[in-house]
Amino acid sequence: MRLDAAELVESREILPGQWLQAYHAPDLASGARAGQFIHVRPGDFSGMILRRPFSLNTADAATGIVTIHFRVVGRGTEWFTHLRPGDRIDLLGPLGRPFEVDPRNRHLLLVAGGLGIAGVRMLADEAIRDGRQVTLLFGAASAREVYPSSLLPDEIEYIVATDDGSLGHHGYVTDLVLDYEAWADQAFACGPAPMLAALARIAAGRRERLGVAKLGRKRGGGKVDPVGSPAARRKAFLQVSMEQNMGCAVGACLGCVVMSTSGVPQRVCREGPVFAAEEIAWENAW
Ligand SMILES: Cc1cc2nc3c(=O)[nH]c(=O)nc-3n(C[C@H](O)[C@H](O)[C@H](O)COP(=O)(O)OP(=O)(O)OC[C@H]3O[C@@H](n4cnc5c(N)ncnc54)[C@H](O)[C@@H]3O)c2cc1C
Ligand code: FES
Repeated sequence: MRLDAAELVESREILPGQWLQAYHAPDLASGARAGQFIHVRPGDFSGMILRRPFSLNTADAATGIVTIHFRVVGRGTEWFTHLRPGDRIDLLGPLGRPFEVDPRNRHLLLVAGGLGIAGVRMLADEAIRDGRQVTLLFGAASAREVYPSSLLPDEIEYIVATDDGSLGHHGYVTDLVLDYEAWADQAFACGPAPMLAALARIAAGRRERLGVAKLGRKRGGGKVDPVGSPAARRKAFLQVSMEQNMGCAVGACLGCVVMSTSGVPQRVCREGPVFAAEEIAWENAW
């Protein structure tokens, strides 16, 4: 993690109120992994003291370019839209723990709700680069808010659901998951908390629905990976990227905690933002 200055290269409104910005930040672009985020300071004299967290939407080590995709919701995100190419921002990152893909897995299911696409977008690039097959299920309120397919790698299968039925499946994106659960080796999701909680319930019943036997202890001592470790997350069928209001984003203020099933509060900025779905106590996480 480091403090860096990044130069804005391109800024455009890709959907109503949603912006895609590209920054030149070579160290970040080469050191970041999918699922991590940056903490960005809005202008020096704007009166906004706290930095704002954004997922790393893409990172290209060859060009040194990283992108963020954000929706304008308040003063900070509004301030970013007034930046022009050549302007510089001050950012901290990469922060948090990334998604963990089991190296043996070939079929990855990504599930995004609205702006949650920014949380899983970079994983699509990493997976394609590593020769994996990717299906992205994307849910939005209506066709107006559907992420443009032109911004995705050609190699992925892209399936859309809209709440009002104006494009793709009429209903929630979670309705589509059962059709893919046998195909997928692992699933990764980012979006509103109710969507993530629904996916966690689906994932919890998957083994039983598919009739997959629970494997016994393996030869070599049957070592159990500690909860929250990268190895344990790698074995989870579903990993989720959580969003929580943040203060420091470096683990000091405890402003971002969610409750885990073990009863130990987890800091989204340090232990997360990516968790195995079974680590989160969904009924009383907040
Ligand atoms: C790990 C992480 C990744 C995120 N990635 C993205 C992304 O890729 N794209 C995107 O559009 N949004 C993302 N968000 C949410 C984004 O940070 C907030 O929308 C943004 O901070 C709002 O700032 P604002 O000044 O416009 O709004 P205001 O409501 O004026 O913000 C006031 C304060 O509240 C905090 N805050 C408000 N809403 C949120 C929120 N939902 N999450 C965290 N802090 C919040 C801000 O940091 C700020 O300190 C992410 C949040 C987290 C925690
Ligand atoms: S935001 Fe301060 S501990 Fe996570």
